[in-house]
Amino acid sequence: MEQFPKTFLKGAATAAHQVEGGNIHSDYWMQEHLPHSSFAEPSGAADDHYHRYKEDMQLLRDAGANAYRFSMEWARIEPEKGCFDENEIAHYLQMIRDCRMLGLEPVVTLMHFTSPAWLIKEGGWENPKVVEYFADYVRHVAAILRHNVRYVCTINEANMRLQLLELMKNYRLGSSADAAVKTTQAGAPGKESQVQVGLNLNSNLVLGMKEAAEAFGIRDPRKIATFVSPATPDGDRIVMEAHRAAVQILKETDPEIQAGLTLSLHDIQACPGGEQEAARQWDEEFTHYLPWIAGDDFLGVQNYTRKCVHAGGVCEPDHPREKTQMGYEIYPEALEHVIRKVAEDFKGTILVTENGIATDRDEQRCDFIRSAAEGVQNCMLDGIPVKGYFYWSLLDNFEWQKGFSMTFGLIAVDREHDLTRHPKPSLQVLGEL
Ligand code: BGC
Repeated sequence: MEQFPKTFLKGAATAAHQVEGGNIHSDYWMQEHLPHSSFAEPSGAADDHYHRYKEDMQLLRDAGANAYRFSMEWARIEPEKGCFDENEIAHYLQMIRDCRMLGLEPVVTLMHFTSPAWLIKEGGWENPKVVEYFADYVRHVAAILRHNVRYVCTINEANMRLQLLELMKNYRLGSSADAAVKTTQAGAPGKESQVQVGLNLNSNLVLGMKEAAEAFGIRDPRKIATFVSPATPDGDRIVMEAHRAAVQILKETDPEIQAGLTLSLHDIQACPGGEQEAARQWDEEFTHYLPWIAGDDFLGVQNYTRKCVHAGGVCEPDHPREKTQMGYEIYPEALEHVIRKVAEDFKGTILVTENGIATDRDEQRCDFIRSAAEGVQNCMLDGIPVKGYFYWSLLDNFEWQKGFSMTFGLIAVDREHDLTRHPKPSLQVLGEL
């Protein structure tokens, strides 16, 4: 394998809620603690990255990486509408400084799925006012990003809400909440593997949704608009408007900041007869966003596997490979395919902001990383401007509804005892790429 150029950003990614712990003002925290929560377990202290981030960054740096992608937590910074916590803003400034001091380029995400609980009570990501709310939050943190951070991802997987809509359609949900339970209990195995968030459509889904609606003061459970709930077409547009507002603020604050969003992208492969459906799905996942992102400084590409489709939707591939803990096919070539497809239409810089595998066999992770990185290099050799690769994730962490059972990390965390970090050989593999 070739070496990556020195300027190439090579690192790993995390998201605040999944690693920090104690994110008590967030919508997720609230949902995790409902009596019939769809979460396997609450996030609790997570990896206590909030206090141990330096140690984690140091391990990443020592292995040979030069960049770290992490997120700032809106729910910490604005726990109540309009009340900004200066101590939390100072915490993230310190984190950015420490990151740089250790020799890692910080790549900061402003919104990685979690929102302040108050925002959901106000109609969440379907309320057009979220654009102004998000802009207000961005205005408050922009000052610490100025001159300190070069790469800012505004919104993580801005297309996740549409992907969830697709998933729900697969389950034939939407018309009645009762149908949700029947369909889920009936099985539809593996369907949840088509989105990249650990969904847990358990048999208590309806009760959990009802409780969440009560907790957020919303009458109809189907109207709960967290960031990880199915979008209406308006909701999809609202996310893009929030992104544009954020980019404008960032650019006004510091024109040197490189701003973009990230998208969850599958390597969509058409089985015979599935060409039209594959094109439709790619348009929904990627192409229809082009007018909103074409002028951005970069696009964050996030890929975990491929998706085979026939005329009726998702289908099993002809020669399926082994699956990860998440139920995704182990298919590292997907990353190269996705980058090539993206580059046909998006002409700016590409950062691979997430790519990873949930497995308890670290040698599988080592192979996955080598193979995915080779795909990135092939793209670069063909002149595609890929400027970075971030493995998901630096640490074993809280995989949303699936709790801590999914092990994506380059570093294991001893959750039984004292959260001691245990680097895995794959950390070194990444560092030596
Ligand atoms: C998300 C992460 C998640 C990962 C693995 C991505 O969709 O950005 O938060 O943990 O996939 O499922």
